[in-house]
Amino acid sequence: MEQNKNINQFDIPLAKRIQLNNSNSIFLKKLLIFSPFLLLLFSFFALRLIRNIEIGSLSILNFETPRNHDHRILGHLPYAEIPKEKLVLIEPNIEVHIDMRDSLLKMREEAKKDAIYLVFLSGYRSINLQNEIFYSLKSIRNQEAAERARVSAPPGYSEHSTGFAIDIGDATQRETDFETEFENTDAFKWLIKNAAKFHFKLSFNKNNKYIDYEPWHWRYEGSIEALKVFETANK
Ligand code: DAL
Ligand code: ZN
Repeated sequence: MEQNKNINQFDIPLAKRIQLNNSNSIFLKKLLIFSPFLLLLFSFFALRLIRNIEIGSLSILNFETPRNHDHRILGHLPYAEIPKEKLVLIEPNIEVHIDMRDSLLKMREEAKKDAIYLVFLSGYRSINLQNEIFYSLKSIRNQEAAERARVSAPPGYSEHSTGFAIDIGDATQRETDFETEFENTDAFKWLIKNAAKFHFKLSFNKNNKYIDYEPWHWRYEGSIEALKVFETANK
């Protein structure tokens, strides 16, 4: 009897102690309390996963807007008009970006030493002037915009608005000005060999899928500003 009493005395507190300190049951209690939140979290990630899978399969079907849209119009990239204070007049009617003046004049001088006579036909053109060129010539030639755009940029889309473009002719063969035949002149051959030394690059070569070949049209890429302006065109 005495022994039973002793056992009971120890039994109850021991049972209580075991229950309170059982780490598994504490974990289970916590799990029970947090289970609604865990369920919510799980549903959230599951829904996101399903959504991503759906978007992925849609993009395979090409329903997505193209991510690399470069804002071309009829194959021409947009170009802002150069601020007036960056323009310099290099000869009557020919203004260019101040950054390219020295290089351009040096190129003409060097060509002259090789008995090649370069003529500058067109430099900077304002967006207003480009507007007149694009729309008036288009109507004179009875051409649709897409046809006209193969040989002339819409206003706001011409490299000439940047001041970094120059159209060049051969002083000894003026009949080839703005003509594909310019490629047969000594001036063109000299440019192909030497223009890169002066940081000039042919803008529209024979591989351009939107714009016709323009052997007379060169752009300057010899300054950070110019490189930024033509970054998309060079991609
Ligand atoms: N003549 C070329 C297309 C231009 O104006 O950019
Ligand atoms: Zn041009």
